[in-house]
Formats: sequence, C-alpha cells, structure tokens
Amino acid sequence: MTERYEAARIIEDTHRLTAYAPLPGLGLLPVNAFVIRAKEPVLIDTGLAAQRESFMQALSGVIDPADLRWIWVTHMDADHIGNLQAVLDAAPEARLVTTYLGMGKAGLLGLPLERCHLLNPGQSLQVGDRELLAVKPPVFDAPETTGLLDRRSGTLFSSDSFGALLQETAEDAEQVAAPALREGMRLWASVDAPWLQVIDEGKFQASVDALADLKPARLLSSHLPPASGRMLEALVSNLKDAPAQPAFVGPDQAQLELMMAGA
Ligand SMILES: [Fe+2]
Ligand SMILES: [Fe+2]
Repeated sequence: MTERYEAARIIEDTHRLTAYAPLPGLGLLPVNAFVIRAKEPVLIDTGLAAQRESFMQALSGVIDPADLRWIWVTHMDADHIGNLQAVLDAAPEARLVTTYLGMGKAGLLGLPLERCHLLNPGQSLQVGDRELLAVKPPVFDAPETTGLLDRRSGTLFSSDSFGALLQETAEDAEQVAAPALREGMRLWASVDAPWLQVIDEGKFQASVDALADLKPARLLSSHLPPASGRMLEALVSNLKDAPAQPAFVGPDQAQLELMMAGA
C-alpha cells in the first residue's frame, strides 16, 4: 500500500509531489516528483501508478497540466513513470526529456516516440527563463538516469541518488536524526545499486564529489525529503560510505510469509 500524493511548495517556483511507499522490514521510501514553474513549466518524473488519482490531483493543485512544456523523466523505473501516459495525455504541448536509451525503453512501453526530446549529461535545456543542466548522478539503477541542475535557483535534482529509507515521514531532511539518515541512505543505496559492492571506491567517491562541486543551494532527491545546501557535506559523506554497506539480500518466500504472519 502507498499513501496519497500531497503537494508542497519548496521554494517560490519549485514544488514537490510526495507519496510514501512502505517497504516491509526496511522502512518508508519517499517517492517525489517535482514541478518547476519555469516560463516553460517542467514536471520532473510522474509518480506511482498505484496512486494515479492522487498524483494527478496533486499535480493539478500546483499547475494546470495543460500548461506543462517539459516532462523530464530521470529514468524509466516504475516509481518515476507510473503516470507518464496520463500526464502526456493531459499535457499535449509537453515534450518528454530523456536519453536515447530512455527513448528506447519508452518505445518498448508503447509511448509516443515523437514526443521525446533527447538530452545527454553535460547538455542543457532552455526552458524560457532558465537553463537546466543535465547531470549524471553517482548512484543509479538504470543506465539512462539523468539528474538536473536548475541554474536559476541552484536546485540539484538527483533522481535515485541521495535517497534514504526512513522510519517516519519528514518535511525536511534536517528533521531526520543524523544516525537514522546515515543508516537510511546506506541501506537505500545498497538496495538500489548492488553494484556499489564491486566498484572502485575512489572513482565512486570522485563521482560524488563531482556532483557536490556544483555547489547546489538545495538537493532534491526522488527518495529523500528536501535538503538545503547546509546538509550537502553530511549527505556527501553518507553516500561516499555506501560501498561499505553489506550487500542487500531481500527476504525469500519463507521469510516473507513469516513477516506477513507477524504483520
Ligand atoms: Fe530507480
Ligand atoms: Fe526511484
């Protein structure tokens, strides 16, 4: 079960649409989409299909979907494209921003390829009153993953990177106690990116630093409450430690049945 989407303003022109997905035995995973009310308005990711009604309602509370010009899909996972077709239908003027690989996956899903606009990390998208720089987040679970830096507000959208499994909901990442945040980030990284166990830690840490060098004013992960730039150092440190986390192995059928019996 997931909870309903709720919309909240983060800064003047940037809003989040947030639901929580309980992962039994692990915690609560925030699932955020974002709206940038730029001159050419942008939706970043499209939420969970299981919460379509509340997602579309929350989106409509922030902006008339017909006004959207860009739908930036950070990657093609179910928690990011759950309502993509519904949003494409409600926003006929909007182009779908993705990479070549993302477009390929969109094609496999029967989505309209003529709506795609291809953008690679390092390239920028002009959205009327600002430039959005595409970036490669250091932790990802799909090769097409692309985050972005809003150069006007200094907001970094990091997709799955910097996410955390939480024990309770929070309006702001600063409300999460430091040890819980560290453990929650390490656990989420091990669930989302099992390849962290087998990589060169130095190269990984350099990729985290490369993103931090953008010096964002705030960091908005798809799976973390909003974090101000004050938290960047702690978030970077937590993520750099992620390869030390033991490999995640989910419950098997017998363990799942025990968990369900105890629920
Ligand atoms: Fe993902
Ligand atoms: Fe995700």
